[in-house]
Order: sequence, then structure tokens, then C-alpha cells
Amino acid sequence: MVAFFALTALPARALPVPPDPEKGEALAQHWCAACHLVSPDQKNANSDVPSFASIANNKKLTAKTLQVFLSTPHAKMPDMHLSRNEIADIVAYIGSLGR
Ligand code: HEC
Repeated sequence: MVAFFALTALPARALPVPPDPEKGEALAQHWCAACHLVSPDQKNANSDVPSFASIANNKKLTAKTLQVFLSTPHAKMPDMHLSRNEIADIVAYIGSLGR
């Protein structure tokens, strides 16, 4: 799964620095954990919201669709103004959670 996400991520040359899943995890903890279960050890989140592990295992959501999805706010999300690189970091982190 990690390889899958790495291979389908936007071309590396499109980004100033390669996606970093560890940065992505920190960003996810900061921006997404209020609603989503972002890591396997997180216990509480909004029950109507898909966990990042289930997003990672959803075959319909590829790195590309996630990238597009995260470029616009969803639900009642705060406007996060994530940069393309931050989005790529988060997508890489989500990819690392897949089985
Ligand atoms: C205010 C609550 C909230 C925050 C904060 C939030 N989300 Fe969500 N998210 C939702 C809800 C509710 C849904 C399901 C409904 C929808 O798609 O609009 C969702 C759906 C998603 C989906 C789509 C899942 C699918 O099956 O299509 C992805 C991917 C996602 N969120 C990623 C993120 C990421 C990454 C962050 C942090 C950068 C984040 N979300 C922050 C509430 C939130």
C-alpha cells in the first residue's frame, strides 16, 4: 500500500520537496484529529467520520483523488489553507496506514 501511494502520488518534480509521511502525521494530528481517527492509537473522534485507516483501505480513494479532495474544504472543516506539499505529506501519511 505504501508503495502504491508512492507510485501514484503526483510526480516528485511537481513538488518542491518529496512528501514526508511524518510531517503528514503531525499535520493530521493538528488539523484532522478533531473529527477523524487519524492514528491507530487515537481513541475518540466523530463517529460519523471515516477513520484514516478506512480511507487508506478504500480502493476508490487514490493518492490523486485524495490530493484533489484535500485541495478544497469538506464538511464543516475549518479553512486549513494547506499547501500542496502539506497535502502530499498528509496523503503519504494516510497511505502509510493502509494494509
Ligand atoms: C470538522 C470535522 C472535520 C475535519 C477537521 C476534517 N474532516 Fe475529513 N471528513 C469530515 C466528514 C464529516 C467527512 C465525511 C463527509 C464528507 O465527505 O464531506 C469527511 C471525509 C473525509 C475524507 C473522504 C472520505 C471518503 O470516503 O470519501 C477524507 C479523505 C478526509 N475527510 C480527510 C481529512 C483530512 C486529511 C483532514 C485534515 C487535513 C480532515 N479530513 C479534516 C469531517 C472533517
